[in-house]
Amino acid sequence: MGISRKAAGIQPSATLAISAKARQLKAQGVDVIGFGAGEPDFDTPEHIKAAAKRALDEGFTKYTPAAGIPELRQELARQYSQAHNREYSPNQVVVSCGGKHALYNIFQAICDPGDEVIFAAPYWVSYIEMVRLADAKPVVLPTTAEENFTLTPEAIREALTDRTKAIILNSPSNPTGTMYSRAQLEAIAELALERNVYVVADEIYDRLVYDGEPFVSIATLREGMERITLIVNAVSKTYSMTGWRVGWVLAPEEIARAIGNIQSHSTSNPTSFAQKAALAAITGPQDCVEEMRRAFEERRNVICRLLDEIPGVRYARPQGAFYVFPDLSSYYGRTLGGREIRDSLSLTEYLLDTVQVAVVPGEAFGEDRCIRLSFATSMENIQRGLERIRKALAEG
Ligand SMILES: Cc1ncc(COP(=O)(O)O)c(C=O)c1O
Repeated sequence: MGISRKAAGIQPSATLAISAKARQLKAQGVDVIGFGAGEPDFDTPEHIKAAAKRALDEGFTKYTPAAGIPELRQELARQYSQAHNREYSPNQVVVSCGGKHALYNIFQAICDPGDEVIFAAPYWVSYIEMVRLADAKPVVLPTTAEENFTLTPEAIREALTDRTKAIILNSPSNPTGTMYSRAQLEAIAELALERNVYVVADEIYDRLVYDGEPFVSIATLREGMERITLIVNAVSKTYSMTGWRVGWVLAPEEIARAIGNIQSHSTSNPTSFAQKAALAAITGPQDCVEEMRRAFEERRNVICRLLDEIPGVRYARPQGAFYVFPDLSSYYGRTLGGREIRDSLSLTEYLLDTVQVAVVPGEAFGEDRCIRLSFATSMENIQRGLERIRKALAEG
């Protein structure tokens, strides 16, 4: 009787715990300003919703092929082939229930017990547990704000063993918003090819990049990278469709087939009409994406300016996504408003309890010196929230 050792070993998501507390306070009528959101605060564009409604009206409500509807797989293969200047077949695409599910499937498909998967800290919370759920071992390499929170090829080389199965790269990153440079990606691509390890490229924020920088996929950088790169993306962040649960993986055919098989015995297929909506999203007008991107860039500029006004705060300027990850450890060991600030969790609790600002403790992302602020919230909230944080930190 009882739950399995595997299930017992899984940590609940810390990001969800803090949002639950913030929601509870909000429900009690408290004016909480939330910087916890991991999703755009815009509505899904109308033409995408219309496509889902049309699919429902036309009775598109039954099982679909496990790996996704053929027209969506074809269109994704076509778009990647064009963007990467390579030939991808629809058989290399598997549509899943969101990017998270695509990643989960990947580790189930490529990892044997004891295999190692390398990734950087700060990391997106689910990598650790997903790798463990595949009976593999997370190998977490710390990075610093000075390194733009990116892995150096040297650090990866040192961590590689004969059990290394994959390296995860998340660029732009959640929680830091930072990106790998083309030169860094080239060096990592060469290393991965030389050592024959997969690169899991989590490109979920590829359309949310700032300062006119082009997004570069590691899959395009060296001949042969398409044989070892597993690209993950979704409509979630790009089209403000987090609740629709449609993501995908682009992988070598053998791996895509394995993922399709796994999926056929777990979820069967992603929701039928949500796939039609995803097709409308990727084939329809893209100005909605640019509008949201521009709004996030403006907010990024404002939140960074306001952070600059707070003494003792250091951060790497986000180049994409909608998060900033300031280091507030200069406040640790101090007593603020009668409370001792020891770490990211006590700081987070202090901010929520005293000035009703919800942030996520960096501890959840493997970096206790920092907190994560999401700027997927209104400009007014950013201004009011940062003012509250500034005041709370000035309490002697
Ligand atoms: C880095 C990263 N990868 C993957 C995902 C999963 O996205 P989805 O909502 O499509 O499952 C997220 C969502 O927060 C993310 O931040």
